[in-house]
Amino acid sequence: MKKTLIVYYSLDDGNTRQIVNMIKEVSGADIERIRMVSPYVGSYDDIVEMGREETETKHCPEIKPLAADMNSYDVIVLGTPVWWYTMAPAMRSFLSENSLKGKTVIPFATCAGWPGHVLKDVESLAAGSHIELPFAVKFDMEGRGEIKTSRHELQEWINQVRDFITR
Ligand SMILES: Cc1cc2nc3c(=O)[nH]c(=O)nc-3n(C[C@H](O)[C@H](O)[C@H](O)COP(=O)(O)O)c2cc1C
Repeated sequence: MKKTLIVYYSLDDGNTRQIVNMIKEVSGADIERIRMVSPYVGSYDDIVEMGREETETKHCPEIKPLAADMNSYDVIVLGTPVWWYTMAPAMRSFLSENSLKGKTVIPFATCAGWPGHVLKDVESLAAGSHIELPFAVKFDMEGRGEIKTSRHELQEWINQVRDFITR
């Protein structure tokens, strides 16, 4: 059994949290949500626009420190929504502030169908880590929290993650 921490960002604890819960259920991993010091305000469309500016400029918003001691974990599962084909700015902040060198990182992203280069971007910011089982999960475009990736494909990945963590 590998000591595992799931670190994720999710705008309203929505799609990404759904996947976090599935991993938690099969692995018993600890969970930490990345929280911004000043969360976004405004409509969804406002946030989409703000997100565009922030991802274009690689802005790193101020985030709250995590309670968990990263040193005591072997595996870090990283979950982010896709924002403009890359990771959400708060995940960029987390990766810029925390070294995952020597850890195994399992990156996943949730999106509405256009994952872009998110997994590659997470991988390059998690420098010196060992990447396992990167995966993008597609949800509906209307924000209903409906998973569009096939149940079979998603379950296969969840099983692989479980086997990797519990082996
Ligand atoms: C600012 C912003 C930008 C987005 N950009 C993309 C994108 O480039 N590609 C995509 O497929 N979905 C995009 N989406 C949709 C989200 O990735 C998708 O709804 C995700 O699952 C939301 O996760 P969450 O509920 O955990 O925040 C974007 C959403 C927001 C708010």
